[in-house]
Amino acid sequence: MSPATVAELSQRLAEFSRVLDDKGDDVAPSLEALEAFRVDSLGRKGQLTEVLKALKDLSLEDRRAFGPQAQAAKARCEAAITRCRARLEAAVDEASLGRIDLDLTLPAAVPARGCLHPLTQTLQEMARILGLMGFSWAEGPHIETERNNFEALNIPEDHAARDLQDTFYLRDVPRLLRTHTSPVQIRAMEGGRPPLRVICPGRVFRHESLDASHSAVFHQIEGLAVDRGISFADLKGTLRTFLQRLFGPETETRFRPSYFPFTEPSAEVDVRCLVCGGRGCPACKRSGWIEIMGAGMVHPNVFRAVGYDARQWSGFAFGMGVERVAMLRLGVPDMRLFYENDLRFLRQFDESLL
Ligand code: PHE
Repeated sequence: MSPATVAELSQRLAEFSRVLDDKGDDVAPSLEALEAFRVDSLGRKGQLTEVLKALKDLSLEDRRAFGPQAQAAKARCEAAITRCRARLEAAVDEASLGRIDLDLTLPAAVPARGCLHPLTQTLQEMARILGLMGFSWAEGPHIETERNNFEALNIPEDHAARDLQDTFYLRDVPRLLRTHTSPVQIRAMEGGRPPLRVICPGRVFRHESLDASHSAVFHQIEGLAVDRGISFADLKGTLRTFLQRLFGPETETRFRPSYFPFTEPSAEVDVRCLVCGGRGCPACKRSGWIEIMGAGMVHPNVFRAVGYDARQWSGFAFGMGVERVAMLRLGVPDMRLFYENDLRFLRQFDESLL
């Protein structure tokens, strides 16, 4: 094939441009036709490709004059094809949407959503009330030393609580699973300076078999206040206020003398039975009262263990079970329900539905 002249090439280019002009935005009526046009113009043997290929045979001068024109035609052609393809594809999508039986006004499927466990809700509510009363949140590890769980709390070596029957000891290290949240008292006092007011919520472990009111793993909230001149009256006032906020303003409380190694004097705190109002029922074993927590004034030996001067400082402590409070507040008759993760049970306490 003899080399094309500039005149020939420019005529071919002009013809091609006219074709593009005629088509305007309507390069092709279908995606198949568009592809055929693309091959015919820009493909390996396409009309425009041939023109561009012929450039290399032109003189440098002619190439300079004609080259840009040819490149511009190519760019214009590519742009037209791209625009047309977008339009045709959109039309195909729209047509297929019309074929699917789609009701866009239908509400979307609601995704499954959880809620806080009733024990967590109860624990948070207890912590919230105590927080408003000036107690701050403290935590300690589940695995404790015998010293923090017992010794520093004035629980002597021969005390029944230390028995293997009650306490889970670790096998290879001198450690145990804390049997109450009281070791966090020790940690809080050693980690800070008086005056202090802390609550220690958390999980505790006892060698017990599961029944309606016992579990080997359960939750407690411990409270501790240490300051100058704290008296048993402060303890009573604090707990009475707390229990009224927790169970309602009418809640009656009662303090019974009791014994804990780490408090002296010690008390057990009862509330008027929430089920029968005090007349006597199975829930309160016909006594009209329900025991809710243990409490007392911090024993001087406990202060001694953490290096606090017992003549300068006094304090009170209390501890209670979260499960027990949750059962009373929510009317749950069996503790095991909290651990079975039956969604039919748990969903009843979805706060967003209450
Ligand atoms: N630690 C005690 C228990 O687990 C509860 C308690 C805490 C009693 C603080 C008095 C003071 O039974």
